[in-house]
Amino acid sequence: MPSDSRFRRLPEERGELSFTFDGQTISAREGDSVAAALMAAGVRVLRNTPVSRAPRGPYCLMGVCFECLVEIDGVQNVQSCMVEASDGMRVRSMRGARCVGNEQGSDDE
Ligand code: FES
Repeated sequence: MPSDSRFRRLPEERGELSFTFDGQTISAREGDSVAAALMAAGVRVLRNTPVSRAPRGPYCLMGVCFECLVEIDGVQNVQSCMVEASDGMRVRSMRGARCVGNEQGSDDE
């Protein structure tokens, strides 16, 4: 995490786990939310807005702003700040609007 960030990780020792974000392996600690783990790994953009494609990342970290939406294990529009990271989870950034029906995302990047 950049030194100018206002966010700091708690120093406590917790177990390690890993998941992928857009195919990149992300290390996390047990109890981390997906958003917290991504921020700790230096990821700032989790989605792009449907209309202007403006980049967005976690803002409130408490389930209010919906800026942290991602796809987790094939489920789109998940608030990453409200989901605890788990080992082997597959997380993808949200690009534009949520897909419906057979348009669900794939692992093809
Ligand atoms: S960061 Fe605001 S809802 Fe997740």
